[in-house]
Amino acid sequence: MNNMLHINSMMSGKIIFNREIVKDHFLMSLKVSSTEPPFKEASPGQFVMLRVKGRKFPFLGRPFSIYSIYQDDGGFTVEFLYRVVGKGTHVISRLKPDEEMYVLGPLGRGFDIFPDRSCVILVAGGIGIAPISFLGGHYRRCAADKPLKTICYAGAQSANLLIGLDKMEEICSDVKISTDDGSRGYHGLVTDLFKDDLNSYSYSDSIIYACGPPAMLKGLADILKDQSIPCQVSVEERMACGVGACLGCAISIKSEYKRVCKDGPVFDIREIDWE
Ligand SMILES: Cc1cc2nc3c(=O)[nH]c(=O)nc-3n(C[C@H](O)[C@H](O)[C@H](O)COP(=O)(O)OP(=O)(O)OC[C@H]3O[C@@H](n4cnc5c(N)ncnc54)[C@H](O)[C@@H]3O)c2cc1C
Ligand code: FES
Repeated sequence: MNNMLHINSMMSGKIIFNREIVKDHFLMSLKVSSTEPPFKEASPGQFVMLRVKGRKFPFLGRPFSIYSIYQDDGGFTVEFLYRVVGKGTHVISRLKPDEEMYVLGPLGRGFDIFPDRSCVILVAGGIGIAPISFLGGHYRRCAADKPLKTICYAGAQSANLLIGLDKMEEICSDVKISTDDGSRGYHGLVTDLFKDDLNSYSYSDSIIYACGPPAMLKGLADILKDQSIPCQVSVEERMACGVGACLGCAISIKSEYKRVCKDGPVFDIREIDWE
């Protein structure tokens, strides 16, 4: 298990850049001045709560997955890929270099790493590529000289909304693309593209990871229902505290309530009670 759980304090992050890469999708780079854990041990699938310094709104932090992280002089550079969906992300998208944010994290339980599997299958829908890309990079670095096949299935509504592909192409042995409108790659859902290939994988030697909209994850759960291949997914819920205190992010796992922020956001796909 690679997941280290920490009690974290709020840190300060200064924006290096915050640029729109495709319509309503932004890449933000933050310099966090800390050389100590917890950032040193951030693992793929973990997230942070971001809040804008000096603004009353948004009052509560917003959760964002870590897209990439580099240690450099005096701290860490942490990158986030995000989509503007409401008022909080709109405010964040207007921030300029040198403005500051409160950063709480890294939080939650990330993806489990299976060093013995030689085939890693990554399924990403839309902005779900953020934690999946961090994970793919982690596997690539850990694999070193070992033979490792990393296949990415990346889907979006249309070609102009596909993001993070350059990095996936560097990391992965193969990147397969789908768009809902057929403007690039397979015409249809990314889960259908994956389903066509499923039987070509060795179930005992592969591991699947996924992140994307709830309908995509539910679709994947249906496809894998009677299959033995392991699969972990990162799920999203609205969050208030981000640290397990408010129960606002609870979801049903094997008929029990679990907190996405503290017990997740990564869960075994077969343990989630999909409605
Ligand atoms: C663990 C985790 C990691 C995440 N990582 C990323 C990421 O890397 N990039 C990214 O773009 N987004 C990510 N999100 C989603 C992001 O936190 C929300 O889009 C953001 O909080 C919305 O804030 P807002 O004020 O703009 O939207 P609001 O005005 O609060 O809501 C606008 C719309 O978005 C929906 N929404 C709000 N919050 C969430 C949420 N947490 N999950 C699902 N739907 C939501 C609302 O139901 C509403 O329909 C993540 C969420 C979680 C829980
Ligand atoms: S957001 Fe408060 S318990 Fe998860």
